[in-house]
Amino acid sequence: MEIIILPTEEAVASRVADEFENAIRNAADGRITLGLATGSSPLKSYGELVRRHREESLSFKNAQAFLLDEYVGLPRTHEQSYYRFIRDNFTSLIDIADDAVNSPNGEADDPRAEAIRYDEAIAAAGGVDLQILGIGTDGHIGFNEPGSALTSRTRLKTLTEQTISDNMRFFTDGETVPIHVLTQGLGTISQARRIVLTATGEGKAEAIAAMSEGAVSAFCPASVLQLHQKVTVVIDDAAASKLKLADYYRFVQEKKPLV
Ligand code: F6R
Repeated sequence: MEIIILPTEEAVASRVADEFENAIRNAADGRITLGLATGSSPLKSYGELVRRHREESLSFKNAQAFLLDEYVGLPRTHEQSYYRFIRDNFTSLIDIADDAVNSPNGEADDPRAEAIRYDEAIAAAGGVDLQILGIGTDGHIGFNEPGSALTSRTRLKTLTEQTISDNMRFFTDGETVPIHVLTQGLGTISQARRIVLTATGEGKAEAIAAMSEGAVSAFCPASVLQLHQKVTVVIDDAAASKLKLADYYRFVQEKKPLV
């Protein structure tokens, strides 16, 4: 894992946006498959990409995208559906085609069959070139909660009480927070050719340390990324505060060879 520690949330967002921009500009005709996470972690990065689209002609017109996950039972039009979230905060603000943005259908009559269909759709599209990830305080990626098989595929999952309570802030009073989700599995996510995980704030420090310096274990689902060859972790000082090797990671960045 390449671990990049930066002083501010803005610097983190800009670095993550650089990863996207480089990948898009290096892809033939910008034909790239992006894996998109929702949640608060990538929001500033999406904002920066929207700015680069508007001001620096960064185009997504030949890109396609696959979302990581979706709540079961929420229509795509619900404000907290992940499809709607990505549309409102990112994809409707750039030039990606509407029908190039894919997500699991949370309203499918048969969620298990929908999970299989979605997994197959990612493969049929040629797989994800660049996946952006956030991380849950319990070490989840996508909605692969602790205990998820490291080789799991897209499937129906039940959220932990911790995640339900973490997510409660997005729902208005009196609304029921969904407890079931469709999520790409750890095996599915691991097939992305390149992965960028981003996190900021002290609340994520423990999860970041467990992910990168702890054992590879279903107890910390994000630790599966230690087995991937191209993962970049872009975090701020606060999220890095529990890393034992933080000084070494900073040293590596400082002394990065130019070749
Ligand atoms: C979102 C997702 C989740 C979030 C994680 C962190 O699509 O799959 O794994 O990335 O729950 O959420 P935030 O960024 O809101 O702290």
